[in-house]
Amino acid sequence: MTDTTSASTTGGSAGGATGPGRAANAARTAVVWNALEGLLARLGAGTDPLHIVDVGGGTGGAAVPLAELGHRVTVVEPSPDSLAAMERRAAEQGVTVRGVQGETGDLASLFPAGSADLVLLHNVLEYVDVPDSALRDVAGLIRSGGAVSVLAANTVAGALHRALSGHIPEAARLLSDPEGRWGDKDPMPRRFTRHQLLEVVAEAGLTVESVRGVRVFADLLPGHAWEGDVHAGQHLVELEKAAAEHPELVGIATQLHVVAHRP
Ligand SMILES: C[S@@+](CC[C@H](N)C(=O)[O-])C[C@H]1O[C@@H](n2cnc3c(N)ncnc32)[C@H](O)[C@@H]1O
Repeated sequence: MTDTTSASTTGGSAGGATGPGRAANAARTAVVWNALEGLLARLGAGTDPLHIVDVGGGTGGAAVPLAELGHRVTVVEPSPDSLAAMERRAAEQGVTVRGVQGETGDLASLFPAGSADLVLLHNVLEYVDVPDSALRDVAGLIRSGGAVSVLAANTVAGALHRALSGHIPEAARLLSDPEGRWGDKDPMPRRFTRHQLLEVVAEAGLTVESVRGVRVFADLLPGHAWEGDVHAGQHLVELEKAAAEHPELVGIATQLHVVAHRP
């Protein structure tokens, strides 16, 4: 079985201590892969390949490593360019990932209801028109007992990062804005508080199993914090794994990772 602990959901693998950028990347992604590995085991991976749908899967940063583990993976993605890049990435790794051009609203016509063991919705809810209906569409695709992995930007972290970069009024605006945006020029269409994200998941009829914080420290540490420490990458990965499940620290993580199942 391929070790995906250090693989990236947005592409590329990341080593432990070969440089600040790679170390930070490993720390940013370790928590999600750690959770996915547990989830795959629970869903029965190791016996039969799972049917996994990566909705808004982009260029296949998650889909390709999952296919390398032997699963049957489909990426549903509106961008033809991203799908082409995903197919190139899969070919480079010698695996097949089915690419389908489409959006969350197309899922019911693309797949039989309840046909997926696992659906990924990573960094997508921020961009859809109506998060509630997008997640309902996703829920319809999951078999009973199957799961969804949702990754979304955290409003609280957005405010923290904005303030730390000196944009104090924008940080305040972000906290009071219902969409979690710091202003009209904010490139992120929407962020979620933990409460908002859990509400969207519950309204889709899904039962939450876990909420983890992703990138609690990795996005806060200044670059010079890495200098001279060849083990910094591995230390940060361990710190991120511990922080991910810390009940207080989850709240300041850059991203919230929710695993939920369909009863
Ligand atoms: C920030 S990227 C995330 C890509 C990938 N999931 C990842 O984590 O690296 C957001 C993706 O969502 C896709 N997207 C936007 N609106 C969508 C929708 N309504 N349904 C499905 N995908 C959508 C975009 O084309 C883009 O590939």
